[in-house]
Amino acid sequence: MLVGIDQLSFYAPPFYVDMAELADARGVDPNKYLIGIGQTQMSVAPKTQDIVTFAANAAKQILTPEIQKKIDMIIVGTESSLDESKASAVVLHRLLGLNPFTRAFEIKQACYGATAGIQIAVNHLAAHPESNVLVIATDNARYGLNSGGEPTQGAGAVAILLSANPRILALTDETVTLTQDIYDFWRPTGNLYPEVDGPLSNQTYIDSFQKTWDEYEKRYTKTFTDFAALCFHVPYTKMGKKALLAKLADVDADTANRLLQRYEESIHYSKRIGNLYTGSLYLGLISLLETSVSLKAGDKIGLFSYGSGSVAEFFTGHLIEGYEKHLKKESHESLLNKRKKLSITDYEHLFNDTLDISHNRFYQDSQIFSISEVKDLIRHYKQ
Ligand code: COA
Repeated sequence: MLVGIDQLSFYAPPFYVDMAELADARGVDPNKYLIGIGQTQMSVAPKTQDIVTFAANAAKQILTPEIQKKIDMIIVGTESSLDESKASAVVLHRLLGLNPFTRAFEIKQACYGATAGIQIAVNHLAAHPESNVLVIATDNARYGLNSGGEPTQGAGAVAILLSANPRILALTDETVTLTQDIYDFWRPTGNLYPEVDGPLSNQTYIDSFQKTWDEYEKRYTKTFTDFAALCFHVPYTKMGKKALLAKLADVDADTANRLLQRYEESIHYSKRIGNLYTGSLYLGLISLLETSVSLKAGDKIGLFSYGSGSVAEFFTGHLIEGYEKHLKKESHESLLNKRKKLSITDYEHLFNDTLDISHNRFYQDSQIFSISEVKDLIRHYKQ
């Protein structure tokens, strides 16, 4: 029985910053952000939107009454949690109108969380093929104004519906996971922004890809020639390319060119949104599927997930016949095209204007799901 990704959608908040303008404001050569980091725009969220509203706005695009009834597990992967105890998945369970007999929980392991959720979903579906599992990767990637990580921020969510007999990507049981206790990026409880050792995080990411790939090649006797495309966790679009290039030196030219061309197709949306933390890998997958005209049913796709700290996983899937009919390219492009560009002054104002959870008041926001009120330390959402 095939198990895997049946539906995929993303949401990004309605504001963005132009990266050349940000570079100018920070006294940096714009080509550092545009070419060196590889970002042209960066999503920014207003205080009326948080990981719950990003997630709900992403998921609503793939839910139908029939799917709502079939979902018996909702898993949220995030490293921007709003609560030390209550899972955002429980709030989303109500907002999305899921059936009461559903398991709901949140997973944290930096940008790896949603991948852990997907592997749990796959195991669950093998035992309960009649059910559906909703995994949502949702994050607000904030490093702080004027910080080294500022050009690698972003915000939004990816919703992934998993099922038996999936319509987009069947996942295989070929997977290699690697855990290493490293302090390349961490956020002690209570800290608004992460501690980050940028060069160490870059190096650990590249090493982790090499180690998981080498083990994968050995364990499953496969090579790069078996793959139509590889998707990477994309904290910024240059990162995955650095890891890929480091492994392509000994690969034949056709295979190397194919994988590099597909890589460019996988970063189309990330260039405009920025970092989604745990959703970045899956935004890359959506981008690849919605941008590439070279892929076909049966093609093998490799996915490299990396969460600082660190846990990495390389896993694989193959495309299902007719997968292209289930993509949401038009609505995704339209969501991005409708966003409003912020001046750098307005971005800085919005960035510092955070939600005060200790102050009771009403809020207004035109998005379908947004924060409508804060009362007694509880966020209330407009449905
Ligand atoms: N034109 C073109 N490229 C330029 C440039 C210019 N004018 N100026 C710099 N660059 C290039 C650099 O050569 C470098 O490329 P390389 O990595 O291929 O060598 C790239 O831009 C970044 O420059 P660097 O000096 O390393 O930037 P930085 O010290 O500001 O750090 C990060 C960049 C990504 C490490 C930093 O933004 C960060 O810490 N981000 C958060 C952590 C993160 O995303 N980690 C990734 C793994 S999860």
